[in-house]
Amino acid sequence: QQDPRLAGIASAIRVIPDFPKAGIMFQDITTLLLDVKAFRDTIDLFVDRYKDKGISVVAGIEARGFIFGPPIALAIGAKFVPLRKPKKLPGEVISEEYSLEYGTDKIEMHVGAVQAGERALIVDDLIATGGTLNAAIRLLERVGVEVHECACLMELPELKGRDRLGDKPLFVLVQSS
Ligand code: PRP
Repeated sequence: QQDPRLAGIASAIRVIPDFPKAGIMFQDITTLLLDVKAFRDTIDLFVDRYKDKGISVVAGIEARGFIFGPPIALAIGAKFVPLRKPKKLPGEVISEEYSLEYGTDKIEMHVGAVQAGERALIVDDLIATGGTLNAAIRLLERVGVEVHECACLMELPELKGRDRLGDKPLFVLVQSS
């Protein structure tokens, strides 16, 4: 039995064909942010799942993990840590590389933002190939943080990104083609 809120969330996400290039069906969450009920339901579903799980850190992935991560963090009483694209964070950073279709990219985290032994939830809007979340898991585990789970609004199951997360659980609200 599916939660009745999920249909409203799924229909509030707009799909824009051929953005940013031909053949890509872009999953646009900005329309969900305009729908107060769908946005609130999204946060509530995550908060219900993650409250009382001993999570002290919500790590949000740039850029759209910065929209959904902070309200979840506040509601479950965890701190928020941004995982950013290179050269954005001003302090000392540690970084992890991941591969793209052409070349590589990196995500970075401030040294000292988290302590060994903390328990983290990683939040992003979407998992496609899973490369970004894979790098985020490595980044947190390198400094001794236990990753409880990864949480996304959406998964593109055809890309099998889930398989790149090893045994780390992934929770998603919506699957799209
Ligand atoms: C998108 C999405 C995820 C990532 C998923 O971000 O928001 O962060 O791609 O892809 P993957 O599972 O194949 O790694 P994008 O690269 O568009 O960056 P942006 O949020 O800064 O625009």
